[in-house]
Amino acid sequence: VRSMLLETFNHPLLGYLKNRVVMSAMTRSFADQNHCVTAASAEYYARRAADGVGLILTEGTIVHPTGDGYNNVPYIYTQEQTESWKQVTQRVHEEDSKIFCQLWHCGRISHEDFTGGVPPVSSSNKQAGGINRQNNKPYGVPRALETEEIPQIYEMFRQGALNAIAANFDGVQLHLAHGYLADQFFDAAINDRTDKYGGSVENRCRFALELTEIILRELGPEKVMVRLSPSRGLGDGFYDWPDLDDMLAYLIPAFERMGLRMLDISCARADYYQTSGRIIRQIRPMWPHLIIGGASLLPGQAESELQEGFLDMVTWARFILANPDFVTRLREGKPLTPMESDMLKTLV
Ligand code: PHB
Repeated sequence: VRSMLLETFNHPLLGYLKNRVVMSAMTRSFADQNHCVTAASAEYYARRAADGVGLILTEGTIVHPTGDGYNNVPYIYTQEQTESWKQVTQRVHEEDSKIFCQLWHCGRISHEDFTGGVPPVSSSNKQAGGINRQNNKPYGVPRALETEEIPQIYEMFRQGALNAIAANFDGVQLHLAHGYLADQFFDAAINDRTDKYGGSVENRCRFALELTEIILRELGPEKVMVRLSPSRGLGDGFYDWPDLDDMLAYLIPAFERMGLRMLDISCARADYYQTSGRIIRQIRPMWPHLIIGGASLLPGQAESELQEGFLDMVTWARFILANPDFVTRLREGKPLTPMESDMLKTLV
């Protein structure tokens, strides 16, 4: 049987790809004190490209200091930070792989410790529950963005996208998932606004749609991917958007009409079939364009998601972290090493 997963292919927007293996975004927290990426990160990404990963999505990359929420994550805001990414894109391109920069604003999943002393911003004033593992304090109490301020957030992403192109990325992925800023607008359980960005399904989708349209207009459909998580891991289980069906029925065709062509349906550590796999089966009839997804799928499972037309490319995070020779192992049918938390401590 031929392997769709491991054969080369030409995608109408992405161009030549070595295969359908995608390295998903993973927070690694190895940026330097100026939030620049280092040579060690370039080596880490280049190793995966040399092994054969077709498309790499970077770790979440902060578009503006007020959007940070983590220790030592890279930014793409200053010229110095933008320059630092050039070593990564150069090394990855030398190996003939493609690389998109994941643009990230954490919103309320943050704390003043990470935002330069100002309260994190969100769709709402409601604080996220639980303890932030980044500083072992409760999450910060967010400040709901004023309606008039929202274009400033779009501008942060637009500048980040332009910086990514200046750093020779093949494109950007807008991180609209996993409970971060855009998801704080989507989610009816968080968004309690009374302006045109809250209330109805249309209003809660407005932030993501306006943002995406601006970035699409700037970069074009071949350089813009959107990451969504209508169903994602939470604790040991998973969490769905409260009005999931209505949201998808409005949002997916709206992205289609504006000219978006690449979607990453992500579930952050949850079981694929319970979360992303189910969402993808629901949206596939509305979305005849590129869909990527996955979550620690076994090679045979990945192959059948491709063969059945649910996925166009398959994402892995933990297995690619734990196996720098992931693609080689797939080609040779060798067993995969599972990820262990100790592996997060070093950048191999
Ligand atoms: C994490 O650091 O656990 C993390 C960061 C960004 C995500 C998901 C998980 O999108």
